Amino acid sequence: MDLIATITVELQEKLSPKRYQHSLGVAKTAESLAKHYGADAQKAYLAGLVHDYAKEIPTEETLLLLREKYAFFPDAMALRRPRLLHAPLGACMVQHRFGIYDPEVLDAIRYHTTGKANMSLLAKIIYIADFIEPNRSYPDVEKLRKMAYEDIDKAILFAIDYTIRTLMDQQMVIHPDTMHCRNDVVVTLEEKLAKQEKKDEN
Ligand SMILES: [Fe+2]
Ligand SMILES: [Fe+2]
Repeated sequence: MDLIATITVELQEKLSPKRYQHSLGVAKTAESLAKHYGADAQKAYLAGLVHDYAKEIPTEETLLLLREKYAFFPDAMALRRPRLLHAPLGACMVQHRFGIYDPEVLDAIRYHTTGKANMSLLAKIIYIADFIEPNRSYPDVEKLRKMAYEDIDKAILFAIDYTIRTLMDQQMVIHPDTMHCRNDVVVTLEEKLAKQEKKDEN
């Protein structure tokens, strides 16, 4: 059995049916976005498939595994929002379990909840695919689906602002990586606009 088939069988056994369908949805959406933007479609499918590998592990066990098994010590803000930690734990576990060592794939998994500054195209694709895969439904999902294929940075900004607003409404901490991601994307968009304006002048 090839790697994708092996992982798919394991996810089906291990995850709830809903999470399994979500994982397939993210894999397929990421593959499609990768084709659209000229990224590696196989890597995108793989990263999408395993991005929530550790999501259903209880918090206590997540913390224990991260610290004891993988010598990963979460920062103070991530500890305040331990749901974020399935992302770094997933990156550690899939490396161990399936021998996925590609740093770009592992990075995309690790930062799919918070985002970060200077995300690779693959990381951006996984971040957005998680929001727009076909099983997702919320008021602006169609708008974001369209935006994701027009300008992935605009889509990231839209998704991150939605996330930050939700956290603010709930008076929750915002992870610094999320703010770094937002600032970085805003700068990228400003630079794109300036370039376009210069081009239009000529
Ligand atoms: Fe996740
Ligand atoms: Fe997810």
